[in-house]
Amino acid sequence: MSESTIAPDQDTILETINKRISALENENRALAEEAETLKIEREEARAKLFESLISNKKYLREVERLKKENALLRRMPLFLATVVEIGEDYVMLRQHGNNQEFITSAPPEIMQKLEPNTRVAINNSLTIVRILERSVDVRAKTMELIEAPSLTYDDVGGLDEQVQEIRETVELPLTKPELFTDIGIEPPRGVLLYGLPGTGKTLLAKAVAHHSMATFIHMSGSELVHKFIGEGAQLVRDIFQMAREKAPSIVFIDEIDAVGSIRTHDGTTGSAEVNRTMMQLLAEMDGFRERGDIKIIAATNRIDILDPALLRPGRFDRIIEIPMPNEEARLKILQIHAKNMKLAGEVSLEEMAGATDGASGAELKAISVEAGMNAIRKGAAQVTKEDFENAICKVLGDEEDRTDESLRMFS
Ligand SMILES: Nc1ncnc2c1ncn2[C@@H]1O[C@H](COP(=O)(O)OP(=O)(O)O)[C@@H](O)[C@H]1O
Ligand SMILES: [Mg+2]
Repeated sequence: MSESTIAPDQDTILETINKRISALENENRALAEEAETLKIEREEARAKLFESLISNKKYLREVERLKKENALLRRMPLFLATVVEIGEDYVMLRQHGNNQEFITSAPPEIMQKLEPNTRVAINNSLTIVRILERSVDVRAKTMELIEAPSLTYDDVGGLDEQVQEIRETVELPLTKPELFTDIGIEPPRGVLLYGLPGTGKTLLAKAVAHHSMATFIHMSGSELVHKFIGEGAQLVRDIFQMAREKAPSIVFIDEIDAVGSIRTHDGTTGSAEVNRTMMQLLAEMDGFRERGDIKIIAATNRIDILDPALLRPGRFDRIIEIPMPNEEARLKILQIHAKNMKLAGEVSLEEMAGATDGASGAELKAISVEAGMNAIRKGAAQVTKEDFENAICKVLGDEEDRTDESLRMFS
């Protein structure tokens, strides 16, 4: 049969096929294994990817946190300090406000720019963050510098004796120094004006500067102490330096009690600072003894609390009281301030002077301005007696209140 005839061939074929099958099966198994491995590898890779995604997120969060922290640090307040001393690898600073001294270091690029008295900004950990420019404009603000004020003695009412005294002690030595050298006496160096607020101390100082043709340097003691904390002594130095450069000059120290008050000697760091300013002031006052072309005028409302060191002979040549104006003086002051006002015929400044007992020069000026304002409000062409009376009430209060007030003051 055909079956038997093909049998050997079939066997061979079968065998071949079987071999082929087992080869393919092997291959298949290998491939399956490989697929399995790849699958595992893929799983692993996927896991790794997942992990790194997670850690990426974690890092992003960390970056975000650091950014915030950085911004916060930048916003942290910096403190002011002044360089006291510079060594090879250290710098000694004094912190403003508390006046504490400490030693720190700084990168070379900062170190080489430092000098004694350089002002720097430091952070909480006392590291120098920035070098600050010299505060020229800050100083300019403390001293109101007027080359020669335009106010004259004619603008000062009722202080004839005081004007005379200040002319001798301040104006004359500046305008005619030879009078003093010829006679052989040392010219006076300064005066202290004391009296209640608004009595014309500042006015008088400005008028003298005008007649002396001198530079007028105005410094306020309270600003020196309250506004320029930690810089007071340096400012005093700068002010007198400027006075020397711009001589002849008058240094006017208003509210000197803020710097030179006995009340400040309480041992706190704030008072240490005030004392330093005061010491510098005394040093400057003693220092220009030999120079005739710089004069000091100081003013205070509170001579009672002034440091005796300031009142010691040799510091101020004259101590001049600027009194509250009496009736005669009040009339003169009213005349000065009403000089350019259009007054109605019935207005008697004499009468107004009589009705303003206890008013200071500044208050009399305010009364004149207020009377003028009353007329303007009405659209009137002249200032009437009624305008003045209303102004007096407004500035000084009712007459009865005033009597109460003065009673209280003297009780
Ligand atoms: N004796 C005076 N004569 C004229 N005006 C005066 C007089 N006293 C004060 N004044 C006016 O009051 C203003 C403030 O006075 P001010 O000189 O600052 O007083 P003080 O310095 O004593 O506190 C002056 O600018 C001036 O207009
Ligand atoms: Mg004043």
